[in-house]
Amino acid sequence: MSDEFSPPTSEWYYPANGVVENAHVKDYKAIYKESMDDLEAFWAKRAETLDWYEPWDTVLDDSNAPFFKWFSGGKTNVTLNALDRHVKTWRRNKIAMIWEGEPGDKVSLSYWRLWQEVNKFGNVLRSMGVKKGDTVTIYMGRIPELAIAMLACAKIGAVHSVVYGGFSDQALADRIEDAQSRVLVTADGAWLRGNIVHLKDVVDEAVHRSPVVETIIVVRRTGHDIRMEQGRDYWYHDLMNLPIASPICETEVMDAEDPLFILYTSGTTGKPKGVLHTQGGYQVYISTTLEWVFDIKDEDRWWCAADPGWITGHSYIVYAPLILGATGFMYEGAPNFPYPNRWWKMIEEYGITILYTAPTAIRGLMRFGDAWPKRHNLSSLRLLGTVGEPINPEAWRWYHTVIGKEQCPIMDTWWQTETGGFMITPVPSFGLKPGSATRPFPGIDADIVDEDGNTVPPGEDGFLVIKRPWPGMLRTVYGDPERYKEQYWSKYQKQGWYLAGDSARFDDDNYIWVIGRIDDVLKVSGYRLGTAEVESGLVSHPAVAESAVIGIPDEVKGNVIYAYCILVAGAEPSEDLKDELKNHVRHEVGPIAVPAKIEFVETLPKTRSGKIMRRVLKARAQGLPEGDLSTLER
Ligand code: WT7
Repeated sequence: MSDEFSPPTSEWYYPANGVVENAHVKDYKAIYKESMDDLEAFWAKRAETLDWYEPWDTVLDDSNAPFFKWFSGGKTNVTLNALDRHVKTWRRNKIAMIWEGEPGDKVSLSYWRLWQEVNKFGNVLRSMGVKKGDTVTIYMGRIPELAIAMLACAKIGAVHSVVYGGFSDQALADRIEDAQSRVLVTADGAWLRGNIVHLKDVVDEAVHRSPVVETIIVVRRTGHDIRMEQGRDYWYHDLMNLPIASPICETEVMDAEDPLFILYTSGTTGKPKGVLHTQGGYQVYISTTLEWVFDIKDEDRWWCAADPGWITGHSYIVYAPLILGATGFMYEGAPNFPYPNRWWKMIEEYGITILYTAPTAIRGLMRFGDAWPKRHNLSSLRLLGTVGEPINPEAWRWYHTVIGKEQCPIMDTWWQTETGGFMITPVPSFGLKPGSATRPFPGIDADIVDEDGNTVPPGEDGFLVIKRPWPGMLRTVYGDPERYKEQYWSKYQKQGWYLAGDSARFDDDNYIWVIGRIDDVLKVSGYRLGTAEVESGLVSHPAVAESAVIGIPDEVKGNVIYAYCILVAGAEPSEDLKDELKNHVRHEVGPIAVPAKIEFVETLPKTRSGKIMRRVLKARAQGLPEGDLSTLER
């Protein structure tokens, strides 16, 4: 796929009539210039669109860089803006969230109702002893209670750590342990492709491994029999019916820099990083980016098809749409269940106006052919979006033509768990080129540089860096500030730039093309995985002495995992062992980490210093030239 990243720059797509005239951002160039001329004034103006209990003293405090502070001295709470302020206006009657379960059950919650549910659950959490600053781990499928639990934590000043419902018990246990969560919110199960995902079983196993958890609150979703441990496990609906669950819950007044959530993501080591985001700047950043990039209006029905367990869901399913008073849609299950028209059917039925999803989902649905979307009236759509990995031009064109009927600009948004919100992205008025995330958002000082920090000329690869801080940035790696400094700020320490970890290039029009990760991070179906996580999963099996994994391009998933294993003396290579290892990885890391192919080898290509040369394995696996082997140990 990587060869497709430099298509003819003449392939331009211009917005259809009406898109630009009505958009929030009409003159990107002027706004961008304004933001760069006075960064603090620009963000202060954006922050003024939100409610604060007390105003800030300093917009940006860089006195302890790279531990930047935004809106220091300001007092707020994300739920003040996402809920409390709306119930005082006409929006109390507006639908905040429309939800459809995979079996077809439907829920819609007005702002008033959502506010009440959040208040009730906030009181429940408080009654369980959860206090400001405590961490709560949340492990659920895509159901409204997930958003309610997140918002309730935020409201009472607790720090949520949402763990994606596809993670294994070991991965969940590691994250519980790292965050030291005494309270965990989960569900009995989740629906996926007509089957039950047994979430509570995974939780039981994880809590067995990580006994810090004292209380488990369980939402009844699938209704199958599960084990409930007396004195530890409580049904959500029971608690929500207690008198303690009053619909009035005081919102905790938070400092702008108080933590809002931890979200674990993969890095270059086996240990996942707890990316920490805070209350004040994050709100400002995600609401501005969503409003300007997806041009959110009151009439819209916004569908971000990600999972709330990832940053995309945190920022753009839960928090930003609510801050903007928008109507959001959420769907529980698989895109092709019971038929490959499920998404298109729901777009038609709910009149979705904006769809935001990932290249892997687009490619997956494209495979089923045009007949499925063509059966449905998709004319409510006015904008489309994509995120997670570079989109190949073929999928872009399909999305544009078959789904958007050439009327909907596609917002290809480049960003990261760490950045909190969109960073390199068009706004609807842009001319687009399939595969390019285009230009930096206002306030984002992005560049592509070489080893020495010089801007690379068009057409040449370099490191994507952000030269000045932005309000949505991560503040640290939870419990590991050194890792934060080392990972993001050490390469260009002298200059004080943020290293994104991606390589990219400019084209002749100054558009940015993101190529991929420079580190040992893989993107499988848009999910981020460290090679080290998969490798340590494999090595934890008694038969495996050493392993190396690589990503190999795949038409649908973007990448699939190939694993090379050296077995311990006495272990017999066999097909059964391969299956056993795949199962082992599923259990240790999660289904997304399961290698598509396992190969047993005698040696691995390494540098003299012992670092595995994944580049060589990759070339071999694809039958390509192995390149410069001068550092290879022979
Ligand atoms: C990595 C971050 C941000 C939410 C989802 C992913 C890749 C993300 C794009 C895009 C090319 C992209 C990068 C980035 N990536 N969006 N539009 N074009 N690459 O968040 O799991 O933190 O992963 O995803 O490699 O560094 P994440």
